[in-house]
Amino acid sequence: MDILSVIEHKKKNMALTEEEIRFFAQGAADGTIPDYQLAALLMAIRLNGMTMQETAWLTDCMARSGAMLQPDVGGIPLDKHSTGGVGDTTTLVLAPLVAACGGKVLKMSGRGLGHTGGTVDKLESIPGMQVELDEETFVDIVRRVGCCVVGQSKNLAPADKRLYALRDVTGTVDSVPLIASSILSKKFASGAKAIVLDVKVGSGALMPTLDDAIRLAKTMVEIGKILHRPVSCVISGMEEPLGSRVGNALEVKEAVEILQGKVQGPLKDVALFLGSRMLLNASLAKTANEATEKLAHAIETGAGLEKLKEMIRAQGGMPDVCDNVVLLPTAPCIRPVLSPESGWLSATDGVALGMAAQKMGAGRMTKDDVIDPAVGFIMKKRIGDWVEKGEEIAILHACGTASADEAEKNILAALSLSPVPAPPSRLIYALVDENGVQEINL
Ligand code: URA
Ligand code: CA
Repeated sequence: MDILSVIEHKKKNMALTEEEIRFFAQGAADGTIPDYQLAALLMAIRLNGMTMQETAWLTDCMARSGAMLQPDVGGIPLDKHSTGGVGDTTTLVLAPLVAACGGKVLKMSGRGLGHTGGTVDKLESIPGMQVELDEETFVDIVRRVGCCVVGQSKNLAPADKRLYALRDVTGTVDSVPLIASSILSKKFASGAKAIVLDVKVGSGALMPTLDDAIRLAKTMVEIGKILHRPVSCVISGMEEPLGSRVGNALEVKEAVEILQGKVQGPLKDVALFLGSRMLLNASLAKTANEATEKLAHAIETGAGLEKLKEMIRAQGGMPDVCDNVVLLPTAPCIRPVLSPESGWLSATDGVALGMAAQKMGAGRMTKDDVIDPAVGFIMKKRIGDWVEKGEEIAILHACGTASADEAEKNILAALSLSPVPAPPSRLIYALVDENGVQEINL
């Protein structure tokens, strides 16, 4: 087989064979196909698309291009993945809750890059917490505790790693078959057998429109069917931060306070929704209601918080942060942002808020930046709320006054106040699974 004929076939809009796709994925992983030929094929795929079967083969071949975990965790290995949100700590809420309900959550998570946070960075704000574990330890913790969250191991889906870097610089990121196969190949390689995907929609999201998001979701569900791994997708909005806090230690605090039963609101609601789909995928509940009740019960009894402590302890961290959140790092400069005018908060720019936190030091500008776990901000208002002139709209946790001044400007610029009332933002738009597309209004 030669790569030129594969490129020719896709250029002529033909469906590729399994052998052709395997040749392409292996050549990407082992370096035998040069960048320019991979890039040409990626562009042909971007322009002419792929059938579901081709996409499933590409997913499977990329998953098998490196190490393939086959973990024995004493149950169905469950995973949840988000396409990238702001103030979105659902993993830290739902992983312990699902574990408390008997699930086995095996989660390899990313670091934050750009305006979105990464779960692994958030966990590292807990003193002592280890997120780089060898495979055996990782699987052992999932088996014993029921959940473990670590960084992605380096030898997972190397074909995707190379292709994703090329896509980034050749205008070929926005392709449904390439995105679907990229996301799922990593999940399948890490051993997940049932997957819940949180597909964000809105400006700044991977998928800007609801139609695009549903198309991606349907593709991922279909690939799951072909490869015999159940996939459910939840389409959720990212107009504003999901939780009230943005920043690493601040977000851990919010997750802990939800598990303590002290904090209600959108982050908890979305985490329970995603968690309920995980329980259903693992047949640990028969109906969505039963699943949600089980998770809510694990908050009431404290079983979820206990699981988070067990997970932190198993990963070398200080479990006491779960009883005493002041043990988490705190910023030296804490001060409010007061609203310069009155009005209804009608819109927020979620990306701009994420970038405001990033500039404060909560995120990275480049891969090698070191993040400050303590900094970020707490939003005191959500879309739809009335704001009085001089009222607290946010609380900054900054490393110093210059950073706080800059963050204040950036946050205020990201908010729109209107003289007319605005509806709250939609949290969840739809659920896409084997039963089709179901509209959800949460
Ligand atoms: N995330 C991925 O892992 N891959 C993509 O192609 C897009 C987002
Ligand atoms: Ca995330």
